[in-house]
Amino acid sequence: MYRTHNCNELRINNVGEEVTLSGWLHSSRDFGGMTFIDLRDRYGITQLVFSMDDDAEMCERARKLGREYVIQVTGIVRERSNKNPNRSTGDIEIEVKSLEVLNSSKTPPFTIENETDGGDELRMKYRYLDIRREPVKENLIFRSRCSLEVRKYLGDNGFIEVETPFLIKSTPEGARDFIVPSRLNKGQFYALPQSPQTFKQLLMVAGMDKYYQIVKCFRDEDLRADRQPEFTQIDCEMSYVHRDDILDTFEGLTKHIFKTLLDVELPDFPKMDYDHALKYYGSDKPDVRFDMKFHELNDLMKGHGFSVFDDAELVVGINAEGQCGNYSNKDIKKLTEWVQRPQIGAKGLVYVKYNDDGTIKSSVGKFYSEEQLKEWLGRFDAKPGDMLLILSGETDKTRKQLGELRLEMGRRMGLMKEGDFKALWIVDFPLLEWDEEEGRFFAMHHPFTAPKKDEIDKMMSGDFETLKNLKADAYDLVINGAEIGGGSIRIHDRELQAKNFTLLGFTPEEAEKQFGFLMGAFEYGAPPHGGIAFGFDRLCAVMNNQNSIRDFIAFPKNNQGRDVMIDAPDTVDQVQLDELGLELKGEEED
Ligand code: AMO
Repeated sequence: MYRTHNCNELRINNVGEEVTLSGWLHSSRDFGGMTFIDLRDRYGITQLVFSMDDDAEMCERARKLGREYVIQVTGIVRERSNKNPNRSTGDIEIEVKSLEVLNSSKTPPFTIENETDGGDELRMKYRYLDIRREPVKENLIFRSRCSLEVRKYLGDNGFIEVETPFLIKSTPEGARDFIVPSRLNKGQFYALPQSPQTFKQLLMVAGMDKYYQIVKCFRDEDLRADRQPEFTQIDCEMSYVHRDDILDTFEGLTKHIFKTLLDVELPDFPKMDYDHALKYYGSDKPDVRFDMKFHELNDLMKGHGFSVFDDAELVVGINAEGQCGNYSNKDIKKLTEWVQRPQIGAKGLVYVKYNDDGTIKSSVGKFYSEEQLKEWLGRFDAKPGDMLLILSGETDKTRKQLGELRLEMGRRMGLMKEGDFKALWIVDFPLLEWDEEEGRFFAMHHPFTAPKKDEIDKMMSGDFETLKNLKADAYDLVINGAEIGGGSIRIHDRELQAKNFTLLGFTPEEAEKQFGFLMGAFEYGAPPHGGIAFGFDRLCAVMNNQNSIRDFIAFPKNNQGRDVMIDAPDTVDQVQLDELGLELKGEEED
């Protein structure tokens, strides 16, 4: 038997028992006559004691063991004289009677501690060592517990888990596909699914009624902290439902996992229109842990000879409450440079400081009278000590820039508190998005999303402006400024689906070739249906107050989409290429 207990099991009431433990040597301390070893496994750490007086030969051997050696010990549990209240096994230690080395270890390339000295690339290359570290290990355990609770909730609510294929057909919408060559059908390719969207809809036509799947999705897009090329969705679809049936079910799921995993009771989620979110927060995923809403100022600021505002489509600002005293001229200059960085792209930043003594200072003081500036402050209900930050320009861009500045101020002012969770639904997204460069509409969500019921007639016959303003029956779940999930009521009628493809620039032949299987299925009694998918990695990260999803994925890709541990992607043998009928174009290797 390798062990009678794990390294987080023994307590004061085990004192006197003989036990056997196995694990990794976490650290050791040598005091001449005594050697202490912290033995670690997945469950925790237990202190071992070797004494020269008891067994000099074994103590010598213990001294020589290196970090991460795998050892097995048998010994007697005894009470520690010097207890460690920060450790669950801190009241006891094992007086070792026998020691066996199960395996040696090279010195690890970074320390296996909560705070490690290893950089990202090194951690990824030796991910199996990184996962031995408490924070990464705990994330994976959290993820596992979370998926169990998801299954429990959905199972209890009548959902059936169905697996859908990974080798499917490439679709031109959305992100780029990863493609897989077919050996048996030379010159033809499968694609890995960006999501099981069409299959889950077909499962509704098939009568499954309530489907779910915790499923890998693949998207060949640029990576960010919250994006991986392969990620996991909690993917769901329901029949005979309206929007609110879906929102209620998945609000219930979200509340269930917050309660069971974090013991957090989330209040009911408010619903916010997409248009409202953009107008007041400059984002379709507003972080509403803090207020700092936008105020539009065109009526007050335009027409007074300040050409920057006069020429702008939109003048809009936020109030950084109580920040006046915190920002010197130099700090404001730095903040201006921050908004002017290419990532944000604002031309400049106007401020109005409402000093504690009631005086007002502004970067545009020479264009506006004190009275006018006071009127601006009034619009924000500003108090002495407050500071207005104002941007101007083209509407969509300016809102986005101010949205970024709002978040930055929220961060600087400590308003995004850890452990504070604010969830909301964003609803009524536009159906179509006009792309100037390509000169065509794209589906804002995906091509299977239905317009709101009362917009169907407009969709069938509307002009360009009408089409641009069509609303979809689509929704997103946002928690603390992160898009956790998205979904919609679907089109279930062949004619409407065909019309949507036409609006998206498909010829009837192209639509038939790409999606004929779905439109064909709609002719066999497709029920009204809708669904949603949560980003599982993102959900886990947000619940743990982390921005990056990487450490909730056991073996993630780096920013170049590489797995640096197994060194993928990689070239393949000519034989493999020949079998697939593929020829590589480009430079010949020497
Ligand atoms: P959508 O494309 O909005 O919808 O994706 C749903 C959720 O998946 C997560 N997500 C990602 N997470 C990590 N890395 C990525 N690259 C990534 N891309 C998306 C997000 C997002 O909200 N089939 C539809 C759902 C539906 O309509 O039912 C879909 O895939 O959290």
